Amino acid sequence: MSTIAEDVLQEHYDRVRRAYGGAIGRHRNEVTTPALLLDLPPARRNIEKMGRHMAGVAAELRPHIKVHKSPELARMQVEAGAIGVSTATVWEAIVMVRSGIDHVLVVNEVAGRDKLAALAELAREADVMLCVDDARNAAEVAVAARAAGSTLGVLVEVDTGMDRAGVDTHEQAVDLAARVAAMDGLRLLGVSGYEGHCSLTPERELRHEKQQSAMGFLVGAAEAIRAAGLPAPIVSAGGTATWDWTAEFPGVTETQAGSYVVMDEFHGAMVGDFERALTVAATVISRPPDRVIVDAGNKSMGAPALARIAGSDLPAFRFDEEHGIFEATPEAPLKVGDVVELSPGYAPATVNWYDAYHVLEGDEVVDIWPVVPRGPGHGGLIR
Ligand SMILES: Cc1ncc(COP(=O)(O)O)c(C=O)c1O
Repeated sequence: MSTIAEDVLQEHYDRVRRAYGGAIGRHRNEVTTPALLLDLPPARRNIEKMGRHMAGVAAELRPHIKVHKSPELARMQVEAGAIGVSTATVWEAIVMVRSGIDHVLVVNEVAGRDKLAALAELAREADVMLCVDDARNAAEVAVAARAAGSTLGVLVEVDTGMDRAGVDTHEQAVDLAARVAAMDGLRLLGVSGYEGHCSLTPERELRHEKQQSAMGFLVGAAEAIRAAGLPAPIVSAGGTATWDWTAEFPGVTETQAGSYVVMDEFHGAMVGDFERALTVAATVISRPPDRVIVDAGNKSMGAPALARIAGSDLPAFRFDEEHGIFEATPEAPLKVGDVVELSPGYAPATVNWYDAYHVLEGDEVVDIWPVVPRGPGHGGLIR
C-alpha cells in the first residue's frame, strides 16, 4: 500500500529556487521566457476583496486551489478568512495539508487503491472531505478509511446542470446519503454541486437564471436529506462566474470559487470584479509584416485561443506548440527580441504547464514559488 512521501514538498521548493532563483531582483522584462509571472499586489487585493465580501454573508469560503496550485496563495486565502481549501485531486490535497492547511475538500470523486489509501492516510492528519455519487465507490472509500484508522467526510455530489458527475435527483441524493451514513469510516456532511455550466454562459441574465435554479436544486437536495433524518450541514458550490450570487444564496453554506485570485481572459469576460494577476512573459522571435510570433505557444498557455498580448489589441491568429502567433501590421511596434506579457485564456490550465511562479512586486521579481503539484500524476507525493 502506498504512503505519502515525507520530503517531496521541500524538494519542489529547493529545486525551483535553484533553477530560477537567479531571476530574483531582475526587472519583469528580463526574465527568461516563457515564464509564469504572478503580480502579487493585485492577487493580494483580489484575496482581500473576496475576504471582505465573504465576511458579510452567511456562507464561508473554501476556495478551489486548482487554479493556482500554490501553498503561498492558499495560505494567504486562509489568512483572509477562508475556512480551508477545495481541491480537484488527492495530490493537491496532500500538498495543501503538508503546507499547513488542515481543512481540505477534494471536490471530486476519488477511485483507485493508491489514491484512496493516500487520502485516508491524509485524513489522520487533517480534516479531509471528498465527494461521492456512487454507493459502491463510497463503500471503497470507507474500506480505505477503516484501513487507515481515519474518518473521511463525505458530500454527496449533485449534478446541478453541468452534466458532469453527481446524482441527478433528490431521491438518489437521499438514498446515497443514507448508505453513506451507515458506513463506518465515513461521516456524512452534506452535498456539493458546482454550477460549472453557468461558467459556460457568458450572457449575465441567463447565467444568473441558471445559477438560481442550480442552487435551488442543490439546497433542495440538502433539505431532502435532512427531512430523511440524516445530517447535511454543508451545502457547497460556487465558481468565479457566480461568486457573489452563490455566496449569497440562502442555504448555501460554502463557496468554492477559485479563479478570482489571479483571473484570466475566460473569467474576465464574465466578471469584472477582480484584477488580473497572472501573465506569461514571452519573447518575440519572428516578425513577418503581418504577424508577431512569440516563444510561448500552446505548451505555454491554457485556452490559447482566448489569450491576448497585455496592453495590445492584436488578435490571436494561431498557437502552435512553441509559437504564439498574433495578427499584426508592419507598423505595429513589436520587433524581434521584445518581451511581451500574454494574458492567459484560462488560468488553471496555464499554471499547470509551469513548475514555478516568478513573483513580482511592481516590476521586480521578488521571489520564486513552486507550482505544486503540477501535471496529472502524483509526481512522487506517494511512494
Ligand atoms: C468543482 C469545482 N468547484 C469550483 C471550481 C472553481 O471555479 P472557478 O475557477 O471558476 O472559480 C471549479 C472549476 O472548474 C470546479 O471544477
